[in-house]
Amino acid sequence: MATINQNYQKLAGSYLFVEIARRVAAYKEAHPEADIIRLGIGDVTQPLPQVSIEAMHKAVDEMAKAETFRGYGPEQGYDFLIEAIRKHNYLDRGIDIASDEIFVSDGSKSDTGNIQEIFGTDNTIAITDPVYPVYLDTNVMAGRTGEKQENGYYKGVTYLPSTAENCFSPALPDGHVDIIYLCCPNNPTGTTLSKAALTQWVDYAKKEDAVILFDAAYAAYISEPDVPRSIYEIEGAKDVAIEFRSFSKTAGFTGTRCGYTVIPKTVTGKAADGSRVKFRDLWNRRHTTKFNGTAYIVQRGAAAIYTEEGQKQVHELVSYYMENARIIREGLKAAGITAYGGVNAPYIWLKTPNHMPSWDFFDLLLTKVNIVGTPGVGFGPCGEGYFRLTSFGDRENTLRAVDRIKNQLKF
Ligand code: MLT
Repeated sequence: MATINQNYQKLAGSYLFVEIARRVAAYKEAHPEADIIRLGIGDVTQPLPQVSIEAMHKAVDEMAKAETFRGYGPEQGYDFLIEAIRKHNYLDRGIDIASDEIFVSDGSKSDTGNIQEIFGTDNTIAITDPVYPVYLDTNVMAGRTGEKQENGYYKGVTYLPSTAENCFSPALPDGHVDIIYLCCPNNPTGTTLSKAALTQWVDYAKKEDAVILFDAAYAAYISEPDVPRSIYEIEGAKDVAIEFRSFSKTAGFTGTRCGYTVIPKTVTGKAADGSRVKFRDLWNRRHTTKFNGTAYIVQRGAAAIYTEEGQKQVHELVSYYMENARIIREGLKAAGITAYGGVNAPYIWLKTPNHMPSWDFFDLLLTKVNIVGTPGVGFGPCGEGYFRLTSFGDRENTLRAVDRIKNQLKF
């Protein structure tokens, strides 16, 4: 008899954004006339940069001729993309990362979800609260947690409250953990960690022989000079941190799919016989076994953003969304709503008026002004009483949404 992976029984019925989509679809079916503005899931709305479009067209033409056709590519990614990433995001910033420490993939959601496979199931994990749900759910699936308790927390997980009171910079755990997930700029709070805070985390990881899984998918949105773009800007991080980056939010690749993971060879874990093993080698084994590489056409599109013209176009794209973030932030302020984030990240994390529960605020926004956002509690118990709006909408809808919140809602 085939049995199931019992750990799946511990999970909430559906993934957060699937549940939101279900509720919105049900509302839309009942109210087909509703003019719904979607600022929920962080999905981009603007077209790909022109340089990527041109590079992909050219790559399609190459696929049309036997002399230039390509079948399976290197699972780790083509050299032209790896070298462009390496130069632009690391070497030019004084960070020495080797070519074979970079693994191109179909995006950071997959990589941050899959990375736990190369760690022992007996490892303890620490996650911030609130948190991008993928980190927690994939560890639940792997059996690294106990059951979910009534207070919303899973047994066996170290939660790091990340709240307005600690300026969204969580304190170090009281005791030992093996794996720490950090996301900076943060999804969902839209806030960042300072160099000093990150240094504390790196020092903790070194002391505890732990590994930091650093999700930097939103690095392109950092506007303030003193916020680290990469964890490897912190001394010692190359011994303890794995970094995830994405083209999704940087260059509009949410549907096109491309990201990468950096695993320095100096990040190691202990094997049962006491020897040290490079996580890079385990990831390489996993990647080559379970993944056949990101499409050549897509990698050409991604590499194009590292040209001079590509950088200009990506900068324009990011500025467009950050102007939306400013409009939302200031609109909320004018409506008397306290909000955080939106300066170095495309997310705005607002306090629900009158301490309204997050899902109640979701319903209010959906039914009264036809706006979709994401309930903070969906990211963890500390998110209760908060709500996330994204700045990835188009300008017109962003302006209309803010206008509706300011002028049609009374709290
Ligand atoms: C989000 O809304 O949190 C993002 O879309 C998550 C993701 O990139 O998977």
